[in-house]
Amino acid sequence: MNILITGTRTGIGKALAQHFLARGHSVVGCSRRPATIDHPQYTHHEVDLTDAKAIKSMCRAIRATHGSLDAVINNAGVATMNHFMMTPDDTARRIFDVNFFAVLNCCRETAKLLQKSKSSSPAILNVSTIAVPWALEGQLVYSASKAAVEQLTRVMSKELADFNIRVNGIGLPPVHTVLTRTVPTEKIDALLKRQTFTRMCTVDDIVGPVEFLVSQESGFVTGETLFLGGVH
Ligand SMILES: NC(=O)c1ccc[n+]([C@@H]2O[C@H](COP(=O)([O-])OP(=O)(O)OC[C@H]3O[C@@H](n4cnc5c(N)ncnc54)[C@H](OP(=O)(O)O)[C@@H]3O)[C@@H](O)[C@H]2O)c1
Repeated sequence: MNILITGTRTGIGKALAQHFLARGHSVVGCSRRPATIDHPQYTHHEVDLTDAKAIKSMCRAIRATHGSLDAVINNAGVATMNHFMMTPDDTARRIFDVNFFAVLNCCRETAKLLQKSKSSSPAILNVSTIAVPWALEGQLVYSASKAAVEQLTRVMSKELADFNIRVNGIGLPPVHTVLTRTVPTEKIDALLKRQTFTRMCTVDDIVGPVEFLVSQESGFVTGETLFLGGVH
């Protein structure tokens, strides 16, 4: 498969890229800063995904080098953990620019490359969070931006169905990454207690469901966001 994964410099995106590379797939990754993966099947684009023109240029380059895409994983994301009264307008808009508008723009451009896929069920996978179903206090803007992504997943799955492109999401509980390193331990522990499996989610827990959702094994699954860890 040719897979585009956004936000591959660190964290979950990097782990996913390394997983798919180890399985023999070609991975195109991107982030604002330079690559941290060195592999013959890996191509990195230094792109700020809030720049719609930069997404278009990246997709033109992918078309020239790879011809098509079989899967797109919209993983890049940023968070702010603050009371909404303490979240300035420009911070809120920046979060939506990365977490929602970049995903929308990336889907619009990559759908053209997914249409050229030889796979019987090319797929988009969007990364969401338990902050949506649990409506976590202190995460209003972050969870609202991801709620918008979950709605995008549902609507887009219908709009791309005629092209045979599936659109799904994966909802993650806390995982140790740069994104969560400033969250106080007691806050993380309280979230873990609410999960059905009360331990911290690891990248090893994530790769299997992600691989399933972008592979032909889930060819009749679309419009769903799958939550890990038991989030009810
Ligand atoms: N960690 C968790 O507990 C958790 C839980 C639920 C959901 N999630 C979701 O999982 C996804 C990955 O998070 P993570 O924990 O792996 O975070 P992370 O380690 O901070 O990684 C985020 C990645 O996105 C890239 N990025 C950020 N802004 C960008 C932009 N404007 N343009 C291009 N790339 C950009 C970063 O690279 P550069 O800095 O080089 O741009 C980095 O590679 C996010 O969508 C997050 O909301 C995480």
